[in-house]
Amino acid sequence: MQFDTIIRDGTVVTASDTYASDIGITGGRIAAIASDLPADNAGTLLDAKGFLVIPGGIDVHTHLDMPFGGTTSSDDFETGTRAAAFGGTTTLIDFAIQYKGQSLRQALDTWMKKAEGKAVADYAFHCIITDVAGAQLEEMRALVREGISTFKLFMAYPGVFMLDDATIFRAMLQAAKHGGMICMHAENGGAIDVIVRRALAEGKTAPKYHALTRPTTAEAEATARAIALAEMAGAPVYIVHLSCNDALEKVREARDRGLPVYAETCPQYLYLSIENFDAPGFEGAKYVFTPPLREKWHQEKLWNGLARDTLQVVSTDHCPFCFKEQKELGKDDFTKIPNGGPGVEHRLSLIYSGGVHGGKFSANRFVELVSTAPAKLFGLYPRKGTIAVGSDADLVVFDPNAEQVISAKTHHMRVDYSMFEGIHVRGLPKVVFSRGRVIVQDGKFTGRAGAGEFIRRQTFTGPAM
Ligand code: URP
Ligand code: ZN
Ligand code: ZN
Repeated sequence: MQFDTIIRDGTVVTASDTYASDIGITGGRIAAIASDLPADNAGTLLDAKGFLVIPGGIDVHTHLDMPFGGTTSSDDFETGTRAAAFGGTTTLIDFAIQYKGQSLRQALDTWMKKAEGKAVADYAFHCIITDVAGAQLEEMRALVREGISTFKLFMAYPGVFMLDDATIFRAMLQAAKHGGMICMHAENGGAIDVIVRRALAEGKTAPKYHALTRPTTAEAEATARAIALAEMAGAPVYIVHLSCNDALEKVREARDRGLPVYAETCPQYLYLSIENFDAPGFEGAKYVFTPPLREKWHQEKLWNGLARDTLQVVSTDHCPFCFKEQKELGKDDFTKIPNGGPGVEHRLSLIYSGGVHGGKFSANRFVELVSTAPAKLFGLYPRKGTIAVGSDADLVVFDPNAEQVISAKTHHMRVDYSMFEGIHVRGLPKVVFSRGRVIVQDGKFTGRAGAGEFIRRQTFTGPAM
């Protein structure tokens, strides 16, 4: 058998197994997994001895080229997917936003155009629904059929994205009927709005008040309400960017009852805390995203949630805004700081370093959290998210012992600061393949804008994990 590439002698790590093997790649797919594949039969031979070979990372929560908070997120589909690739992430699921008065189709068309010709790696979309005055709920069926099988709804941001319970419930019924899943931004936006107005009236305008006006109880209440609505609708629900133990407990209770409730957290909630707002001057604005940073003790609870499968996924909620001119929009009023932080590049290293080297879970669980579970929950499996014959050759040769200090000076995201500046990580991608093509090798980008393809996702069938 002839192969385009053989990855020789790596330690293959999937969500379930660890073993030494060669991997043969042909036509962008994995064609063979076996020992001693004949080197003469390979166009390219890559020696992976001493390294792990893992499935490419899947980040199910990014916001590229997204108008928000009076500006637009600073990475587009080229710079964002490129930075993701440097970090070993080979598939992104971004959000197509339906604005008031638009159809879901218009939202999708807009975001397809943003990505086409730009993405260096594969991508898919969720659809954010903000207005159901027309036929948008009926449109959900057509979108699911076209591979947009998940919909994000907001219980926060009143006047912008927030939906009432009746609308959420109706959308959940539609999702259940057509094989879709609702991704929920769970915070009680009404209560938060009152707390925010009171703070502003008291002259509390600094960045830290973003965190101090969004209590964990507001997140826990909305998480419990989302779960209750989903239970009544007979629908699966996925809680996005879960940040605190209070909300984690609601997810744990629901899962203990056997409900199809899933949740993600993000590296910022595992590594950063409300103490980051002690940064000098206006620097706290770098940490303004939603839900906000919490007290430090929540971090350990979230790591435990990942180890025990209360949380199934680590995504990034990558939504970068430069400190200069973008975050600065809120210099005199924290509510005007565009909400979001950059993170797409360092997810694998942060989770491998803190999770595996930190003794919290195995390398297999790491693969499950950053690739396999995202693929299963979001209809990409087994094309992506695993190492199996027939799967896309989205692969990362990962050096488990390479070290790096994260810095904006060396990162590839188009943003002028790093949330993780100065954090030391152990475990770095060495070579990254997207459908059989090397797109990053030893710190050099070798991919091409436009090589990434839109991936139609399958309907929700449960994680079958
Ligand atoms: O602050 C955040 N998370 N910005 C992106 C939008 C969202 O709610 O995910
Ligand atoms: Zn959100
Ligand atoms: Zn988000």
